[in-house]
Amino acid sequence: MDNHSKRAQAAARMAAMPLKRILFVCLGNICRSPAANGVMQAIVDAGGDSARWVIDSAGTGNYHTGDLPDHRMRVHARRRGYDLTHRARQVRESDFDDFDLIIPMDASNERTLRRIAPTPEAEEKIVPMAQWIDLSSRYDHVPDPYYEGAEGFELVLDMLENGCDNLYNDLNK
Ligand code: 4NP
Repeated sequence: MDNHSKRAQAAARMAAMPLKRILFVCLGNICRSPAANGVMQAIVDAGGDSARWVIDSAGTGNYHTGDLPDHRMRVHARRRGYDLTHRARQVRESDFDDFDLIIPMDASNERTLRRIAPTPEAEEKIVPMAQWIDLSSRYDHVPDPYYEGAEGFELVLDMLENGCDNLYNDLNK
């Protein structure tokens, strides 16, 4: 199945659900996925839809369990009006029961999730974030900003705002 039809299939599957439970996943759960979590929550709240969405994030790694998001990401996000207060946690097999859509930021996160998925049906819940992003950039994934400068964090936020808008519109159709 090509990637675009995966996005379309996820949208069709989720649109009928009264409660939309989505999990964003990156490596450390301190930069990209907690930012996606905060951006998506802000969009859902602004749409008056908080009761119909459950949004969370997790990391494939456990190095930062319990930590707030990276200070740099918190500063860049705050400038755009997002207050990131998520505490990092590692992804777990039960996430495939607790969420309907599991969204990795890059191919490495996606491979790890595919290894953890307990069943083929669970694996169908994995759809990469890049599928919802139509900003032009040189990336086919959301790049890890951890070793980058300010532009890296700004690019991630640009990509996430664009992708989360599309995700919200897709799933609310
Ligand atoms: P994230 O960024 O996956 O977007 O949260 C990273 C944060 C920390 C590390 C790697 C990536 N780390 O290796 O500690």
